[in-house]
Parts: sequence; structure tokens; C-alpha cells
Amino acid sequence: MSLPARILQAVDTLRSQQQGPVCAYLYDLPALARHVRQMREHLPAGCELFYAAKANPEVAILRTLAPLVDGFEAASGGELRWLYEQCPHAPLIFGGPGKLDSELQQGLDYQVAAFHVESLTELHNLARLAAARGQTASILLRLNLKLAEAPDSRLVMGGKPTPFGLDEEALEEALAMIAEAPALQLQGLHFHLLSHQLDVDAHLRLMRSYLRTFKQLCRKRGLQLPLLNVGGGMGIDYRNPEQSFDWPRFCAGLGNVMAQEQLGSTRLRFEIGRFISAACGYYAMQVLDIKRNHGQYFAIGRGGTHHFRTPAAQGHDHPFVVVRGPQPAQLRGQSVTLVGQLCTPKDVLATQQPVAELAIGDIVVFTHAGAYAWNISHRHFLMHEPPRMVFLEH
Ligand SMILES: Cc1ncc(COP(=O)(O)O)c(C=O)c1O
Repeated sequence: MSLPARILQAVDTLRSQQQGPVCAYLYDLPALARHVRQMREHLPAGCELFYAAKANPEVAILRTLAPLVDGFEAASGGELRWLYEQCPHAPLIFGGPGKLDSELQQGLDYQVAAFHVESLTELHNLARLAAARGQTASILLRLNLKLAEAPDSRLVMGGKPTPFGLDEEALEEALAMIAEAPALQLQGLHFHLLSHQLDVDAHLRLMRSYLRTFKQLCRKRGLQLPLLNVGGGMGIDYRNPEQSFDWPRFCAGLGNVMAQEQLGSTRLRFEIGRFISAACGYYAMQVLDIKRNHGQYFAIGRGGTHHFRTPAAQGHDHPFVVVRGPQPAQLRGQSVTLVGQLCTPKDVLATQQPVAELAIGDIVVFTHAGAYAWNISHRHFLMHEPPRMVFLEH
């Protein structure tokens, strides 16, 4: 694996400009824009692409994406406010369990394009609040489906008991409540059952069962719904990023599934996080020390999992590239464990990985660090300095 020339150049600039050891996130915004444009080119007609901001809500990321996506998904009142303030013209959709009344009010203030209702309690609360304001709320009911083929990946949110979405058995009651609540306008259903999906064929089978279930549910109840939100979940293979989710093949297959299942005028909406923003982000840490301990080599970098929790959270060895400095190599053709500065044995970013050469002062650059990375990290632990944030604009 190699780094794009512009990232190498940015790392060199950091090395020469920075007073202390390098510790930074770098984001390649033109690469992000190119990636999303390509994603859109493959997407079949009748589909919408939203960005799930939970993956990475940095302003520069949001503003790069705003003209290229159909809108943003928020999963909390905090995200909703942030999105509204940073991208005031972007359509917003609002999901997540346990929404407070104040958050539902916020959604009504901002006139979100859709509330994703997660429970009967929430449906009741939203109906009450919207009616009191004389406002109509557009809603999608999130369902935790029971499918013949249980979805399978490293992170499953449905198809089994979870706190997400309504049980299919609760649908009757939800529809009865909606029928009694003129302030609620049912726009569609929402299914997001998993993340980390790498298997295109399995995901196409899941899409087919989503479409069939949607049609059956609607037919049985005489509903004509304009929207089916099918969530996100396309995975990055951190062990071998080239083998990540094959989006072009998925879209080609999805076109066939849509043609066969005939959804009529119902639009399919994606709300994708990781697969959109992961590849544009890099986490760079300069090697502070190299040591041998109980027969194994360790390289200690400036930073760690308090900045970049992704490998610890997912339990993987994160892919990286070594950018050599001027020092002669201290390790050649050895395996080394890359760790940070925290006093916990969990502060590991990659375990016993082969390196051609390594020396103190080299910069280790972790790729695919643009999703669920800085924003999921325990940044206050040990009160180290935060990383620098570098956004490459051109
Ligand atoms: C409801 C919902 N939609 C979308 C996403 C985005 O998933 P991903 O980042 O895997 O695409 C998530 C992730 O947790 C989610 O819970």
C-alpha cells in the first residue's frame, strides 16, 4: 500500500513546520468529493443518498458533501443542531433511539425532512408536540424486521432483539395512532439492520427482502408510501482495504433487484456513513521510541487510541504506511506493535505488523481513518494534546 502524493507532501510539510513530533489527522477533501460523485454515478435511478453524520461530522467534511448528497442524517439533538448550523440549506433526517421532547421540538423547529420514529412512546410524544404547535411532522417508522435469513456482519442492529426500531407486531398499533393523529404524516418505513457489510451478494439479498417486506406490509394495509430508507452499513475491510464493499457491483445488482421487485414510485433512500468518509481520512503519528520487550518490538507514537479509537473499537490491526525520516533504520524486516502514549495495554493500533524499515522520527500514517475515528475517541483520557486537523482543500 502507498500514500497519494498529496498526502505524502502534506506529511512532509507537517514534519518541517511543526515544533514537536507530528500528530495529526489529514483529510483529502477533493478525494472525498470524487468518491461521492462516483458513488452517485453508480446509484440506480430512484435512489437517494444521505450522509450519516455520526461517521464524521467535521465541518469541512459536511461542507464538501453538502452539494453532492441529498441531505444528512442526524442521530441526536446535538448532531441535528450542528448540521442545521453548519449546512443550513441541507435536508435533514432525524433518527436514533430515546429522543427527548426537547430534541423532537428541535426537529420541528428545523422542519426536518423526516423523523425516524423508533418506538410507540416516541410516536405518541411527537404527535402531541406537533399537534400543540399546529405543525405536521413527516415520519418514517423504523422497523426491526424478522427476516427468513438473519442478517450477519460484525455489527448487527436488527433481525434479533435490539433497542432499535419497532417490532413488526407493533406496526398495527403505530398505524392506528397515526390514523388518529393528523399532525403525523407517514412517509415511509426505515430498515437499518447492520453495519460493516463486506459481502455484496449478502447485501443484495438483504435489499431484496427489504423491498419484498416493504411491499407486503404496504399491500396488507393499503398503504402507498413514497419512501423506503434502507440505512447504510457498507463496510471497509480494514485488513485489506482493496477488498472493501464493491459499490459498483452492488449498484448494478440493486438496479436489477429494483426492476424485479417493482417498487413503483417509492424511492429508496440510503443513509451511509463509514463507506463515504473512511477513505479520505489519515491519522499520522511520529515515532517517539522503539523498544524490545519480552522478545517483541514496540514503536510508541505521538498520539494513540485516545485520538484514534477505531482499531481498538473494532478489534483490528489498522492499515498503515511508514513515511521514513532521515535517521538510519533501527528495525529492518521485523514485526512491530504500534502503540500510543497511554498507560494502558489497550492503546494498540496494530499488533506485530511487518515493517521494511523503521526508526525513531519516522511518521506512521494510518489510512482509512475518516470514519468513526476522532469523534468516537476518548480524547480527554490522560489530557494529552489533541491532534492537529489538516484539511487538504485542493
Ligand atoms: C440508523 C443508522 N443509519 C445509518 C448508519 C450508518 O451506518 P454506516 O456508517 O455503517 O454506513 C447507522 C450506524 O450506526 C445507523 O445506526
